[in-house]
Amino acid sequence: MNGIARIDEQSVLKAYARWAPVYDWSFGAVADFGRKRAIDSINQREGKLLEVGVGTGAALPNYAPHLTITGIDLSPDMLRKARNRVRQRKLKNIEALYEMDASELRFDDESFDTVVAMYVMTVVPDPVKVLAELERVCKPGGEVVIVNHFAQDHGLRGMVERWMTPAARALGWHPDFRIETITHMTKLDLIETRLLQPMGLFTMLRFRKPAEGEKTCATTGEGACCCG
Ligand SMILES: C[S@@+](CC[C@H](N)C(=O)[O-])C[C@H]1O[C@@H](n2cnc3c(N)ncnc32)[C@H](O)[C@@H]1O
Repeated sequence: MNGIARIDEQSVLKAYARWAPVYDWSFGAVADFGRKRAIDSINQREGKLLEVGVGTGAALPNYAPHLTITGIDLSPDMLRKARNRVRQRKLKNIEALYEMDASELRFDDESFDTVVAMYVMTVVPDPVKVLAELERVCKPGGEVVIVNHFAQDHGLRGMVERWMTPAARALGWHPDFRIETITHMTKLDLIETRLLQPMGLFTMLRFRKPAEGEKTCATTGEGACCCG
């Protein structure tokens, strides 16, 4: 697992039971800039969207009404908040919110046009397995969008990261999670890498799953992505 220690399911459940009441005005608020940027891009798409690790549902009111949304999360405490939000905001395009493990999604292959995981990959016990699941449930021609913090050890950002390490660990994060854990572990085509606010601390990765019979970066053997 690329030097990443295993976080077990019980510690995730315990951590997010504690975080659920304060999440929206603590980390949830800091994460909002990046979340909104990713959603702007997702809202250009059509069809069915799966949000993995939907948390308190902070993103849900911002999705365009033409998208049909399913959310999943491991934590019943976070999901309770998300369900309240859907009810209070009378959101009509949320099809379902399920308690489910991202590493064992109970959906058929190729079920969703877009799959998104925001601030999730560093808290799941097995990010490589989760990535394979995101890929599996995405339709050919669909997109997988990942927003996350990836480690950087130098410059001002490196300093800020070291300062944030205790808070990051309290969220169950691995502050040392490297971008290659994602980019080297997928056959999807990387079509966009974008640094996000605040201070480029987070990164959005957009991947495209090749349509049936389509040439991919992997099959053309091109070093840089040929699809972007
Ligand atoms: C930092 S929060 C991000 C929540 C939300 N995506 C956001 O943008 O605010 C991480 C979420 O991932 C969820 N999570 C952790 N491990 C998971 C797993 N194996 N399967 C599904 N969700 C998981 C946590 O319960 C938590 O709600």
